Amino acid sequence: MSDAALEARGIRRVFRTGPETLEVLSGADFRLGRGEFAAIVGPSGTGKSTLLHILGGLDRPTAGTVLLEGEDIFRYSDSRLPGIRNEKVGFMFQFHHLMAEFTVLENVALPLLVARRPEREAWERAERALAEVEFTNRLNHRPAQLSGGEKAKAALARALVNDPLVLLADEPTGNLDTGSARQLMALFEKLSGERGTALVVVTHNLDFARRAARRLLLREGKLEDNGPEV
Ligand SMILES: Nc1ncnc2c1ncn2[C@@H]1O[C@H](COP(=O)(O)OP(=O)(O)OP(=O)(O)O)[C@@H](O)[C@H]1O
Ligand SMILES: [Mg+2]
Repeated sequence: MSDAALEARGIRRVFRTGPETLEVLSGADFRLGRGEFAAIVGPSGTGKSTLLHILGGLDRPTAGTVLLEGEDIFRYSDSRLPGIRNEKVGFMFQFHHLMAEFTVLENVALPLLVARRPEREAWERAERALAEVEFTNRLNHRPAQLSGGEKAKAALARALVNDPLVLLADEPTGNLDTGSARQLMALFEKLSGERGTALVVVTHNLDFARRAARRLLLREGKLEDNGPEV
């Protein structure tokens, strides 16, 4: 068994649209230990979201694989994979994807309800996750009634509610003002430090990337580890 929380081996991803083929990832490798925090940077369109989706088991690679605590997640069938994901991965999407018709509390409890956890436990853990991201009021608001920073916190609480081994966040500070972005960054740091969650953040925010222990540059379909210095 590997001691890495998350390991990517030779990830390739080729998209076929009609007669065209597009090789977005061409052998990306990467290892991350428990409680480690890595930032992935790179220009728009280089495949950062594509890679993050594969790391979280939301998309299958054309070749290569992803190991969570040494276990190959892609050996599971399409019907089993969502269960593994729900148990081990927290995912914060680039545009949050909160459910418009549900309240904040319902959105956060949803992964547990889907996993058929007892309702009472689901509500309690949802409240705890929201408190952890310092979101304690407006729990009955719907996403359209929230500010950008509040939406981001709700999405973060939902990603944390299942106590994931790895937390993957795609541009979490994307549309936030400097103050809200800083607050969110501080939350991420607290999480990786206190919970021992392995954290991968895709970001254009250099301030954020600088705080990560590791910075990985996605270039020409591969990850270059730039180490702790900028
Ligand atoms: N399902 C798909 N089918 C075909 N092409 C796709 C698909 N998903 C992504 N692509 C292409 O793959 C490339 C990488 O997309 P991706 O969204 O991963 O980029 P990104 O680095 O996250 O960009 P940004 O910084 O703008 O979010 C783009 O050229 C995109 O058009
Ligand atoms: Mg993206």
